[in-house]
Amino acid sequence: MTLDLHDYVASIPDYPEKGVLFRDISPLMADGEAYHQATDQIVQFARDKGVEMIVGPEARGFIVGCPVAFELGVGFAPARKKGKLPRETVKAEYSLEYGKSALYMHKDAIKPGQKVLVTDDLLATGGTISATIDLVEQLGGIVVGCAFIIELKDLHGRDKIKGYDMLSLMEY
Ligand code: PRP
Ligand code: HPA
Repeated sequence: MTLDLHDYVASIPDYPEKGVLFRDISPLMADGEAYHQATDQIVQFARDKGVEMIVGPEARGFIVGCPVAFELGVGFAPARKKGKLPRETVKAEYSLEYGKSALYMHKDAIKPGQKVLVTDDLLATGGTISATIDLVEQLGGIVVGCAFIIELKDLHGRDKIKGYDMLSLMEY
């Protein structure tokens, strides 16, 4: 039976600040069947793309990307926030729906020419995913797709990643 994944998203008004309607995937992660279904849908999207590596931004990109990497039998490389990676890094700055930040990857995280799927829980303004794509490309990787559990349509993040194949499992 196919689940309606919308039933596993909690919507919280005014979090983390007034005016933001926060979509929370923790009920989805907490349910084995729903988490498995979401993972499988992303795995199907990735299957014919020759994906060799998954990259996800801290923190919820790990939750989505790691089970997909495991199912595909490929590696996972994290894009992390400041001060978390111990070796030489590349950096990409971005703006958030609520703030500003930067992401980093180890310089040897991706081999030049590797085909990469980028994953995150949610596409909002697209700043995080654009920075993650930037990091992969700085390292010579080829982004063959981007996959999200949720896309917030009103924030038009999709416009920032025109030209990349994209999957979102749910739209709000
Ligand atoms: C959230 C979310 C996405 C990003 C989406 O992460 O998990 O990564 O924001 O927003 P954007 O499309 O406007 O960039 P957050 O930065 O809150 O980090 P967290 O996963 O560590 O909570
Ligand atoms: N939910 C979860 N993460 C987010 C959101 C949201 O609505 N907006 C930006 N990051």
